[in-house]
Amino acid sequence: MRHLLNPLDFSVEETERLLDLASDIEKNPGKYSEVCKGKKIATLFYEPSTRTRLSFEAAMLNLGGSVLGFSSAASSSASKGESVSDTIRMVSCYANICAMRHPKEGAPTVASLKSRIPVVNAGDGGHQHPTQTLTDMMTIRSLKGRLNNLTIGLCGDLKFGRTVHSLIESLVRYENVKFILISPPELRVPSYIREDVLEANNIPYKEVTCMEDSLPELDILYMTRVQQERFFNEAEYLRLRDTYILDKAKMDLANKDMLVLHPLPRVNEISVEVDDDPRAAYFRQVQYGVYVRMAIILTLLGLDKAV
Ligand code: NCD
Repeated sequence: MRHLLNPLDFSVEETERLLDLASDIEKNPGKYSEVCKGKKIATLFYEPSTRTRLSFEAAMLNLGGSVLGFSSAASSSASKGESVSDTIRMVSCYANICAMRHPKEGAPTVASLKSRIPVVNAGDGGHQHPTQTLTDMMTIRSLKGRLNNLTIGLCGDLKFGRTVHSLIESLVRYENVKFILISPPELRVPSYIREDVLEANNIPYKEVTCMEDSLPELDILYMTRVQQERFFNEAEYLRLRDTYILDKAKMDLANKDMLVLHPLPRVNEISVEVDDDPRAAYFRQVQYGVYVRMAIILTLLGLDKAV
């Protein structure tokens, strides 16, 4: 049995296979509409979510399966003090696979140790978010045609933004990928990403505070929200939240084929006037997320070869 807890749980070859499967699902959805008949996914969300939870549920429904779960810790037995280990033992009796989001880093890993069904990490604290990363990779691969030879700007809250950590870890495995890390000094990427991932793999990167100067160099601009819920100090959040706002004037400085990605939800960091720019890919990214999660469910249930 396999889990998806960290983006590196899939090798580069397995990742390519999964993205190929997701692209085939995009082209031939009808072929997959009954593959998970009789199967259930449990979505165990101890933290708020719109896209991730609904896209897992949509993915399972598109595959002919069904869904159960909860969408807040308050509405689950966690509010009575039940541990994640006990909850997963019980959920293993009800469902064939589960997606878990939790405010504590490592909670899905703890769950996986006691689970009899595949556990998918749907975001653990400020740590990792592998299914968003696979979504980001499918978006880049589909719209750019490649995952190598890219200069990627990551902008905003690089400290607490788990999608950023997972994306860097995954993309360093491809040839000639460079990063420009755009953040205020307080929200730099954590040192484990800088030292153990970027420096350990000799990946070219620079850390900058100015977005405008970097825009002309970028193939991809990955915007992120300042993660209010991870701040200890409200005043600090308010001071930092509007550091970067991508607007039409800044888009004029960028390459004609630069893509703008964002895992969403957006707050102020992308002005709505950018939405109509053909380079804005963040709503298309949401659609790719459903295909990718369908491919993840099929792969972890061992049904990817059944089609
Ligand atoms: C992201 C997350 O939850 O980390 N959202 C998502 O899953 N699409 C990004 C965010 O909340 O800012």
